Amino acid sequence: MDLTRRDFLLGGGAAFGGIVATSALPAFADNPALFPQRGRWERLSIGYQHIDAGAEKPFSILHISDTHLTAAYSHESEWTRKFMERRSKTFGGRQEEALRDSLAWAKQHVDFIVHTGDMIDAQSEANFDLVRKYYGEGDAAMGGCLGNHEFYHGQGKQNEAGKDVTRAKVAAAFPFDNALSSTVVNGVNFVTLDNVYNTVTAAQATRFEAEVKKGLSIILCMHCPIDTPRIRRAANKYWKRDNLKSVWDANGWKEPRREPVTRDFVAYLKAQPLLKGILAGHYHIDVADRFSPTANEFLVGGNFLFHGQEITIT
Ligand SMILES: [Fe+2]
Repeated sequence: MDLTRRDFLLGGGAAFGGIVATSALPAFADNPALFPQRGRWERLSIGYQHIDAGAEKPFSILHISDTHLTAAYSHESEWTRKFMERRSKTFGGRQEEALRDSLAWAKQHVDFIVHTGDMIDAQSEANFDLVRKYYGEGDAAMGGCLGNHEFYHGQGKQNEAGKDVTRAKVAAAFPFDNALSSTVVNGVNFVTLDNVYNTVTAAQATRFEAEVKKGLSIILCMHCPIDTPRIRRAANKYWKRDNLKSVWDANGWKEPRREPVTRDFVAYLKAQPLLKGILAGHYHIDVADRFSPTANEFLVGGNFLFHGQEITIT
């Protein structure tokens, strides 16, 4: 019988009854014959970028995004278990390994790590436990922000009221101020914020202005990018949307940007000379473009595909 790991974990091997000899376990490890050089140079696909932020001394960070963990415990709801099973196939089933490899790489090669959201694909007890485990593990000082999938549980509106339903649960798992948080490293202020439905609130905009008043260079980290023509073109190509009036518009993904608070916030960012860079994810592609006279914007590919981005900062 050809027993896959998933069959085994889901108890699909009914023929085995309630207990299985460890000798019957499928091989969980790689088949080294398939990719014998994996790990010889690198286990991740790392891009290399730079931000000139006037730092007190040079340092580097690993930027990752969109891990899309799909774990569920056997006692969780049928919807949760079925959803995670289906989505494991979408994302390859090796997302936790990708995250572990990223953390190990960061610990060895850079000073800090930032995750720009969608660490989980949907809410589950098992996923939230993984969030606690990996945000709390090691001394690589992982920071981050939320993604839209952090709020996903199969229903509810994609707006602030929809977030309210599970906001406390999310906040209990992610160990930072989810609305906006600031970490100063060598005189550079990393501001992370929740813009997971392409919008910011008036309270977030006010808090960001308070960060600007600190007078330090800012690197803004958030899940959803602010589209530039080049980023939009790459996203449309990857997602197989062949013109600029894409499904994003049809689905209202772009519409909120015309919402006045967010529109004004974007205009404020564009004119803000202390803004030196933007880090984002969401589109699962590695692309960079000029955002403003002082800031470039960097998107990183999906961590579920073992992508990461080292950014040196001077
Ligand atoms: Fe994502």
